[in-house]
Amino acid sequence: MGPEEGTDLVIRGISTLLTCDPGREVDGIEVPVEDGTVVVRHGRIVYAGPGDGSPVIPDGMATVIDARGHTVIPGFVDSHTHLAFSGDRAFELGAKLQGRSYLEILKAGGGILSSVRALRGTTLPSLLEQMRSRLDRMARYGTTTVEVKSGYGLDLETELRSLEAVSILDGTSRQDIHGTFLGAHAVPPEWSSDEDYADHICSSMLPAVAEQGIARFCDVFCETGVFSSEVTERILMAASGHGLVPKLHIDELESIGGADVAIKVGAISVEHLLRTGPEDARSLARSGIIGVLLPGTPFALMKDDYAPARMFMDEGLDVALATDCNPNCYTESMPFIISLACYRMGMTPFEAIRGATINGARALGLQDEVGSLTPGKRADIVILDGPTLDHLPYRFGINPVRMTIKDGTILGSGEP
Ligand code: NIG
Ligand code: FE
Repeated sequence: MGPEEGTDLVIRGISTLLTCDPGREVDGIEVPVEDGTVVVRHGRIVYAGPGDGSPVIPDGMATVIDARGHTVIPGFVDSHTHLAFSGDRAFELGAKLQGRSYLEILKAGGGILSSVRALRGTTLPSLLEQMRSRLDRMARYGTTTVEVKSGYGLDLETELRSLEAVSILDGTSRQDIHGTFLGAHAVPPEWSSDEDYADHICSSMLPAVAEQGIARFCDVFCETGVFSSEVTERILMAASGHGLVPKLHIDELESIGGADVAIKVGAISVEHLLRTGPEDARSLARSGIIGVLLPGTPFALMKDDYAPARMFMDEGLDVALATDCNPNCYTESMPFIISLACYRMGMTPFEAIRGATINGARALGLQDEVGSLTPGKRADIVILDGPTLDHLPYRFGINPVRMTIKDGTILGSGEP
């Protein structure tokens, strides 16, 4: 390793190169390249393939990185996070260990509602500082594109402040950050029912969010005891009318018809899917919707039921992987999520990495710009310790990222 100074970038001698370019898949699998080279010019990929097919770069024209003994993959696209929170909920760990369920904690005013109280009392500068530190950690763990949901404000002022933070961070940090309005994350105490709160979302919150242009997506937590499928549909139809693209949290705890709503409203993705059956998986696949799987969530809920990833893929549903980083499931690490996907959901390292890169990009509609090492796309690259793909999930609880590159610029290095 040890990059030299230069304008552009050549990574060569790569032991294993996986581009995640769907065009390179044969029968749904990409065979990684051994002794690969990646060439970057003006922040974009120019070449990614075998070393002996690489264009010749004259000496001194580029920063050269020798990646012998390393694996190179696209930067991670974390397509589902709730980074806009204040503080943490470490104090709930004891209750969780005593067997109290997620919905019990929520009904008693804890969970999301306790994070709402914390965020309402947090200033914009303090929120920005907390989010920046999470984004920095994400960069060190290889994440170059991040989706961030609001949803811990649940009143107009705090929801707008959260999305403003997202848009400020998108403008000031090297990562690309995309905002999602999740006003329908829980019913706040000042509203008596999900219907009444939904009226407020549709009449006041959505128009304000749309007018400020600070969110691309609108999400709803469609779940028993939170938002019914009817209310979910109403909110997402209204969101669509304001130009926001629908996403849904569905089937995390129980299945209440979220998949049908997703298809009706033309959602880009459905997320969690712990209780989704084969029939719904097939219908979602037919509609071209991406399933975003979040194995950190059952891990943090201390449950053994992970999303049936293999069944989804057999039914033709394309799956993405994301952290769900939130105060209940507090991890910024996509490598850890990839380990969980392999160890607990039976995904292969290739399937998991594809889920964490190109399929994450598809869940955000960004597949033409990021998510694979394809000539013309942005040069978002991760250099991993370990000479094969298997090393990434195999070693867990450590940071396997040696270097994160965003738009051709070295963002940061993990621990050696
Ligand atoms: O995706 N399920 C709803 N929202 C988050 C959890 C948020 C929280 O507990 O603070 C999730 O898991
Ligand atoms: Fe979530």
